[in-house]
Amino acid sequence: MDQQERLIWIIDFGSQYTQLITRKSRELGFSSEIITLKESRKRIEEGLRPKAIVLSGGPMSVSEDKNDYEFLIGLDDLPTLGICYGMQLMAKHWGGEVEKGLQGEYGHAKLHFEGDKIPGCPAEFNVWMSHFDHVIKAPKDFKTILMSKNNIIAGIEHESKPYLALQFHPEVEHSEHGKDILRYFYEDIAKLKSDWSAKTMLIEAKELASSVGDEYVLCAFSGGVDSLVAATLCHEVLGDKVHCFFVDNGLLRPQDYHHIELLKRETPLNIEVLDCKELFLSKLDGEGDPETKRKIIGTTFIEVFEKKVHEYEASHKIEFKYLLQGTLYPDVIESLSPHDEDGKSSTIKSHHNVGGLPERMNLKLLEPLRFLFKDEVRVMGEQLGLKHEWVHRHPFPGPGIGIRILGKIDQKSIVKVQESDQILFEEMHNLDVYNSVWQAFTVLLPVNTVGVKGDARAYEQVICLRLVNSTDGMTAEWSDVPRKFLSKVSSRITNEVAGITRVVLDITSKPPGTIEWE
Ligand code: XMP
Repeated sequence: MDQQERLIWIIDFGSQYTQLITRKSRELGFSSEIITLKESRKRIEEGLRPKAIVLSGGPMSVSEDKNDYEFLIGLDDLPTLGICYGMQLMAKHWGGEVEKGLQGEYGHAKLHFEGDKIPGCPAEFNVWMSHFDHVIKAPKDFKTILMSKNNIIAGIEHESKPYLALQFHPEVEHSEHGKDILRYFYEDIAKLKSDWSAKTMLIEAKELASSVGDEYVLCAFSGGVDSLVAATLCHEVLGDKVHCFFVDNGLLRPQDYHHIELLKRETPLNIEVLDCKELFLSKLDGEGDPETKRKIIGTTFIEVFEKKVHEYEASHKIEFKYLLQGTLYPDVIESLSPHDEDGKSSTIKSHHNVGGLPERMNLKLLEPLRFLFKDEVRVMGEQLGLKHEWVHRHPFPGPGIGIRILGKIDQKSIVKVQESDQILFEEMHNLDVYNSVWQAFTVLLPVNTVGVKGDARAYEQVICLRLVNSTDGMTAEWSDVPRKFLSKVSSRITNEVAGITRVVLDITSKPPGTIEWE
């Protein structure tokens, strides 16, 4: 299926919940695609039509903004669902009245039906609703179907055409019966037939992979969930023409080396390990600034990868034409920001990635997971026969423990982080903590503190434990793990890792802290 054949276009007006509309729609079996208003105009002008349109919420006020949406609303009687700002656009377009509210306020609201109930919903239920602008008079031919307890019009539906508009967000978890309401729109109003399942998702990704034909495909393999699933999928379709290169930058944890060995043994993937430890360490020598360290690791990666791959091409008499990347849908959407004309948000940390590679090496990109969310990738991994624990590994950053040794990196510090991380990892498994935490690691702090080891005074460094829960790494909460587990990890680290006298726990959420320390 090509992207323009998606059943539903979700027009993104900048709501923080837009991705959730896609998620919930997929859970109901309907494929959708998030696009900007501008992109929808382009497609409409090309004669393309979706089967339904969802107008997302957004931070603007219909009384002030200048979004030119008139071309889309009511077009060809296409089934349309307006959510919050989307509802107000619809109301304004058809002559209803919208009243300005308090900027950015959200809260719970209790709703009741005015007339027939939506199938699956009780007479009253709670939702997550905006108290910003709201409709005070429904347009002609629309009936009010839902009201809030404090007398706000919460839902309107057209008498005869397939239009539904909601003041609240049915896509968020806080809204009870949100899925029943979305189902009502897709099945009863828009009369759509479901088209999305784990099976169709796999077929589509394989079609994307097969589009490279007979060409050789190169993969910068990290062993993480995304690159593993992408490589396995492509290997299944393209066979040994997919080559995975794993760069050992010397900044990996024992579990990463073990994982790669395991994958080499237990999967059919063609994995080549490039030992570049010394090169990375020599380039990082003496450097303590976090941003400079990240840049050095990133550029060294690109340099060494390019060089080794060219050597490989020459010795094997092949030429790579594609670079396989495990790009996911959230990254794709982020780059389509509806606000991109106003400038992108500032860089908080420069993330190391292989972004510069395709141009330098003249490679085309192959991104078979570009329409998927992380949990869908995990499902796909298991469908492809990958082990549960492989597709549920915690994320690990490209610069590795280079950004977990605060300040200057040297071999002794690397060993301290590797050993302490291994203890944390083992105890997470022993005490059943691994799966209840999203990411966990140790950080070496560049301070010495006094302690007692044996009978002697010690003046050694500190290891900090960082365990967080998150859904996508954009925000995070520190994980509330059992005291017994923490105490075991602490006593093992202070006893077993040379040079560490003290273990502390990071209890900072993101924001304001970031997950990594550098
Ligand atoms: P921060 O520290 O920005 O991390 O809150 C959010 C998530 O991103 C990971 N991370 C990175 N991943 N290259 C990566 O591939 C990087 O440079 C990088 N920096 C942070 C981090 O581990 C967390 O999961």
